[in-house]
Amino acid sequence: MKRVLLGLLATTAASAIDIGVSSKGGNVTGGFHYGFLHEDIDNSGDGGLYAELIRNRAFQSSEGYPSSLDGWYSINGAKLSLKALDEPLSKALSTSMNVAPTSTGGQVGFFNDGYWGVDVKVQKYSGSFWVRGDYRGVFTASVQSNITGEQFGSTKIKSRAQANEWVQHEFTFTPHKNAPSSNNTFAITFEAAGLKSASLDFNLISLFPPTFKGRKNGMRTDIVEALEQFHPTLFRFPGGNMLEGRTNTSYWDWKISIGPLEDRPGFSGVWNYQQTNGLGFFEYLQFAEDLGMEIILAVYAGLSLNGDVTPKDQLQPFIDDALDQIEFIRGPPDSKWGAVRASLGHPQPWKLEYVEVGNEDWLAGAPEDPDIRVISSGSVYDGYDSIPSPGAGDYHLYTEPDTWVADFGKFDNVETPHIIGEMASTFPNGGTGWDSGVLRPLPWWGGAVGEAVALISYERNADRVLGALFMAMVNHYATICGRSGSNDSLDELLMAAHPITETLPANSDFDPLYYVAGKNDKTDAHIFKAAVYNSTDGADVPVKLTFDGVVADTAAELTVLSGPEDPYGVNDPFTGVNVVKTTKTTIRSDRNGTFSFSLPNLSVAVLETKGKRKAVRQQW
Ligand SMILES: *[C@@H]1O[C@H](CO)[C@@H](O)[C@H](O)[C@H]1NC(C)=O
Ligand SMILES: *[C@@H]1O[C@H](CO)[C@@H](O)[C@H](O)[C@H]1NC(C)=O
Ligand SMILES: *[C@@H]1O[C@H](CO)[C@@H](O)[C@H](O)[C@H]1NC(C)=O
Ligand SMILES: *[C@@H]1O[C@H](CO)[C@@H](O)[C@H](O)[C@H]1NC(C)=O
Ligand SMILES: *[C@@H]1O[C@H](CO)[C@@H](O)[C@H](O)[C@H]1NC(C)=O
Ligand SMILES: *[C@@H]1O[C@H](CO)[C@@H](O)[C@H](O)[C@H]1NC(C)=O
Ligand SMILES: *[C@@H]1O[C@H](CO)[C@@H](O)[C@H](O)[C@H]1NC(C)=O
Ligand SMILES: *[C@@H]1O[C@H](CO)[C@@H](O)[C@H](O)[C@H]1NC(C)=O
Repeated sequence: MKRVLLGLLATTAASAIDIGVSSKGGNVTGGFHYGFLHEDIDNSGDGGLYAELIRNRAFQSSEGYPSSLDGWYSINGAKLSLKALDEPLSKALSTSMNVAPTSTGGQVGFFNDGYWGVDVKVQKYSGSFWVRGDYRGVFTASVQSNITGEQFGSTKIKSRAQANEWVQHEFTFTPHKNAPSSNNTFAITFEAAGLKSASLDFNLISLFPPTFKGRKNGMRTDIVEALEQFHPTLFRFPGGNMLEGRTNTSYWDWKISIGPLEDRPGFSGVWNYQQTNGLGFFEYLQFAEDLGMEIILAVYAGLSLNGDVTPKDQLQPFIDDALDQIEFIRGPPDSKWGAVRASLGHPQPWKLEYVEVGNEDWLAGAPEDPDIRVISSGSVYDGYDSIPSPGAGDYHLYTEPDTWVADFGKFDNVETPHIIGEMASTFPNGGTGWDSGVLRPLPWWGGAVGEAVALISYERNADRVLGALFMAMVNHYATICGRSGSNDSLDELLMAAHPITETLPANSDFDPLYYVAGKNDKTDAHIFKAAVYNSTDGADVPVKLTFDGVVADTAAELTVLSGPEDPYGVNDPFTGVNVVKTTKTTIRSDRNGTFSFSLPNLSVAVLETKGKRKAVRQQW
């Protein structure tokens, strides 16, 4: 038995990849950033991260989308219609819903079926609505099944409604049971008999579950907690395409996204729906702070998706807007925009190190702030090969796994700093573009390994590549898609959980094993991150890893993610079937301080030594 085992080890040893990691000669980086980009793509904001449960809460409209009654249904024959009143709730919310009973008795009103339903749990909900018209009595707010009508919770609100005046009503309630599915609705009813006017007008009808950190107008707790698992340290917002807008009248205008919700008009989103502006600039900044993320602020640069380009001599208002925006973030509370921030509840300035400018090239002429790094939205690979120092580039790539692997050395000799502002394995090897019909619906394991190879290539150059960001598509399914999705993003999760603050040079080549090695100066741990892509004959790859300065019998935790036979296997958020296997083992270095282990074909692994150096064990 023993002999057989030794025999096996001997064969393994013969073909092992020997990696010796030096103790010096690398780059102190302060830590490569793993983070994400957020914008309201496919309801990742409204109906996604933003916790508002009511769809079309304020009947907003824009050049792209007229006001509608989408999401609203009548109760007991009440007639629902849109009205643009002479005295609207606000200039921004100029259309409201008129509710006219057709009977003189009983409860009448309306319900809303939310964004694909309303999640109902035993937890405290906070809601509000504005009403105009003379009504004496109570309003009833409730949540119920859209299938059986079973009521899960309700509350009564005494009317303070008045003729010719908009009056806000606020309420809270806690349902008495969890609904069995999310196919539920939120309703408001009133007694037809108590109505003194012919009808009532409603607007800004809102309902929130508890939000992350209890922020008013905040984010969905479950989605934020899923995002938190990625240990994100860098956050780029608000896009992306949403920043640019469909045209130069519907770009993401931060000034209409702050302050009371009544003053936010919403805008023509670029993802085929009207957006509310509910998830506004202040909310984004608060969210970044709550997750401890540094921000990359993307400012509009006069280029929109339809090709509208603002001529240079007309750019000044946009430049002024961007400077105001920067002041809003980090100006003292007695500056003009710092004061606005303070009035919204955040007197303390936020930190801002990175500002990304859309495709317009006003970089060279922009006022320089010594502590802000300006990022051009192009990279040296997009022809931006003369980004003035200390500016940085932004490289985006949506590609196939083989390309990540072929590009492994891409940033090794690029002097200009870059962020990898968006990246994803979107199609299989040999596929093309977005529209070829082979776009993978869910991130797949082979793609994830390709991305891991890319992340390793970036982190190796962490002195110049500041970080890599995935597109957080977080809609009603509460999955995290796009770059990574559901759970195939485990590669990134794993790598982000082991921050390296100083890269260290190693003496071995790459292919089929790709790796980065380094140290975390805070914990004194040595770290090795690796991915295997297409090993010879698909065999396991034996590795002998030695860190200069790590002695015999040092413990290390080795985490290996491996996939299914089929590289297109996915962790399926719909069926809950996960194909990616995680194994965690503690291994110890041998007499020579060497860690020996094998990694399978198509795998991603991290080895981290446990804490400080151990005392040298007695030799045997
Ligand atoms: C450190 O940075 C230099 C210059 O950017 C680079 O040439 C070198 O490869 C880096 N060293 C490591 C170990 O990454
Ligand atoms: C709720 O039920 C109505 C029919 O009464 C249906 O039209 C609507 O699609 C349902 N909402 C959801 C979210 O399924
Ligand atoms: C919700 O239930 C209604 C029937 O009341 C049905 O029409 C609708 O398709 C269901 N929606 C979902 C998302 O299951
Ligand atoms: C917006 O785009 C239109 C059409 O391209 C152009 O005529 C106009 O000058 C642009 N306005 C601004 C402010 O850039
Ligand atoms: C890796 O193997 C897959 C499957 O056989 C193949 O499609 C792909 O082209 C290979 N890539 C490389 C870089 O060897
Ligand atoms: C991945 O799957 C595991 C096990 O099902 C789960 O606990 C974890 O929350 C998932 N992570 C993400 C980011 O979805
Ligand atoms: C590596 O594994 C993948 C997935 O099982 C497979 O497609 C590929 O052919 C393997 N590579 C080799 C060289 O066997
Ligand atoms: C330790 O290194 C020595 C000298 O290189 C070598 O002969 C020996 O086999 C190594 N021991 C182990 C356990 O690998």
